[in-house]
Amino acid sequence: MPTWTMHCGDALTVLHTLPTNSADAAITDPPYNSGGLTAAQRTSDTARGKYVSGDAQHQLPDFDGDSRDQRGYLAWLNLVLGQCYRIARAGGPLLVFTDWRQLPITSDAIQAAGWTWRGIVPWHKPIARPARGGFRRSCEYVLWASKGRVDADRNPVYLDGLLSASQPRGTKRRHITQKPDELMRDLVQICPPGGTILDPFAGSGSTGTAALATGRSFVGIELSARYAAVAEDRLRLTQEDFTLVPEGE
Ligand SMILES: C[S@@+](CC[C@H](N)C(=O)[O-])C[C@H]1O[C@@H](n2cnc3c(N)ncnc32)[C@H](O)[C@@H]1O
Repeated sequence: MPTWTMHCGDALTVLHTLPTNSADAAITDPPYNSGGLTAAQRTSDTARGKYVSGDAQHQLPDFDGDSRDQRGYLAWLNLVLGQCYRIARAGGPLLVFTDWRQLPITSDAIQAAGWTWRGIVPWHKPIARPARGGFRRSCEYVLWASKGRVDADRNPVYLDGLLSASQPRGTKRRHITQKPDELMRDLVQICPPGGTILDPFAGSGSTGTAALATGRSFVGIELSARYAAVAEDRLRLTQEDFTLVPEGE
């Protein structure tokens, strides 16, 4: 049966305690350290101020770690992804979310940490706002890499290179930058069936719930105690849902 563990703490601190070669994939959605048109705006505003539009119908908590400048972000993400590289098994995949501003620096951090960069999967958001005088920014991006040669014999999948899904709404929305369940269930297919997925920026646990729902195990880390509790709640409910044996079987 798939298992899960949530650590509440700083990603770099906790990652150092995890065993080498113990994860089959790393799938993560770091604080983008993006938003704003100038460096000053990016480093002075909060995550909520940058990523939640004024008409959003929720008052979910803010999170820390989103005010690094470009050089700081590159250095820090490189350290985190370097630890993920150590913890991943040979041939294991890495997926990292980013937006259009941080795409170049994220690909640099991935490669500086030792991963082999393999491609980009755009995540299309059907309900993005129009941009007056320009193009609608309706995509975020998932960068795909591997620890050396891809082990296609272990996971012989053929996955779509463009995914479309809307962010959860109403009571299903538990985090300000929560990723859609259907998107995460598509992405976790990159991990061999029955494998263990590591997410050092778990937020509300979307990677973990997709892992459990598809028969994979999960190790998550989250700095915010409030969001770590949300992740634990969602993971517990998902595990209950997927271990219930219907009556009569
Ligand atoms: C973009 S959000 C992840 C959202 C998640 N994918 C979801 O669907 O809920 C990034 C998360 O990283 C957390 N975070 C920020 N700095 C961190 C750190 N140093 N260590 C661990 N988590 C951190 C934030 O609290 C935030 O919840």
